Amino acid sequence: MAASSTSLFLVFSSLLIFSSLLYVSDADYSAPIMKGLSWDYHHKTCHKLEKIVRKHLKKVFKEDVGQAAGLLRLHFHDCFVQGCDGSVLLDGSHGGPSEQTAPPNQSLRKQAFIIIEDLRNLIHKECGRVVSCADIVALAARDAVHLSGGPDYDVPLGRKDGLTFATQNATLANLPAPTSNATTILSALATKNLNPTDVVALSGGHTIGVSHCSSFTPRLYPTQDPTMEKTFAHGLKEVCPTNTTDATTVMDIYSPIKFDNKYYVDLINRQGLFTSDQDLYTHKETKPIVESFAHDEKLFFEKFVQAMIKMGQLEVLTGGKGEIRAHCSIRNPDNKGYFSYLSEEEDQYDLESKAELR
Ligand code: HEM
Repeated sequence: MAASSTSLFLVFSSLLIFSSLLYVSDADYSAPIMKGLSWDYHHKTCHKLEKIVRKHLKKVFKEDVGQAAGLLRLHFHDCFVQGCDGSVLLDGSHGGPSEQTAPPNQSLRKQAFIIIEDLRNLIHKECGRVVSCADIVALAARDAVHLSGGPDYDVPLGRKDGLTFATQNATLANLPAPTSNATTILSALATKNLNPTDVVALSGGHTIGVSHCSSFTPRLYPTQDPTMEKTFAHGLKEVCPTNTTDATTVMDIYSPIKFDNKYYVDLINRQGLFTSDQDLYTHKETKPIVESFAHDEKLFFEKFVQAMIKMGQLEVLTGGKGEIRAHCSIRNPDNKGYFSYLSEEEDQYDLESKAELR
């Protein structure tokens, strides 16, 4: 009797533990999505969308793997300034100097903008003007991660493109500087509802790509940052002999073109490139997270995906807000080509309705 009640208790308590594990893992994996976005938003109107993006990017990265990093960074810069609305893609015009030409965006790869426009062209040719540039940027960032060796994940879609771009001051205020310490980065990202795990996971985007000397020479000159490992510092000084050298170097010295968790190993080895990276291993709140990601790549991938899905939904425009641009760098009302396209559509509509009346 005592034995059977003990085993009943064991069964019951293991069921409880199991269901709570299920609950935790559910909560861990599922990211809430904003009203107006959905996982299958384009299924009916453009079911080939994701195939088109992946196929094209495979070809692009085969020729130049570095473009993956450029596309990932573009999504981050889009989302952090005025939300993921494709505003970073807009050329400046009568509205004054654009968000695109603000200092932190000047080092975005020119080719990244061309790739997005090429994708838009391919997609709109196949499906018509139904997918926004902001959605294309989000999908391109996902494929950049996956095709570089990182996790594959679904992206909530349905963003609309913004009608305006941000001012240069707003751009500067929303993109943290690489000279910031972890405390500053944590509070800057907390204003975007990103928690310390999100901050450390998103910073792992620096596992691929390159940086210009100017982003890290304040750590070398006039005095060398004592937290930087000596041989690493020596190598950086060779690439950037002065604080005005215009050269680039890889951001993850261990595996620069592979999306993996070695960025965190770099931080533990004190070979992080920016203060904003290295200080994550000094700050008491983020240090254990860095360690856990360095030891467990699967955990890093899982947290990275969650954080990307969160970041990808910052201040999105949905439904009747915004527009779907006919050209990613020009808002529709400024696009003369778009107006002729519209009148062609209207002519077509007139012909069709006349035919119906007959
Ligand atoms: C947390 C604050 C962040 C800071 C301070 C920061 C800063 C920077 C800087 C200064 C560069 C180099 C620019 C240059 O000199 O050429 C860079 C490159 C890059 N960043 Fe970040 N970043 C941050 C967050 C992120 C996030 C969230 C992602 C994506 C998830 C990301 C992805 C990248 C990538 C992929 C590159 C390389 C770009 C290329 O090779 O063209 N960064 N970042």
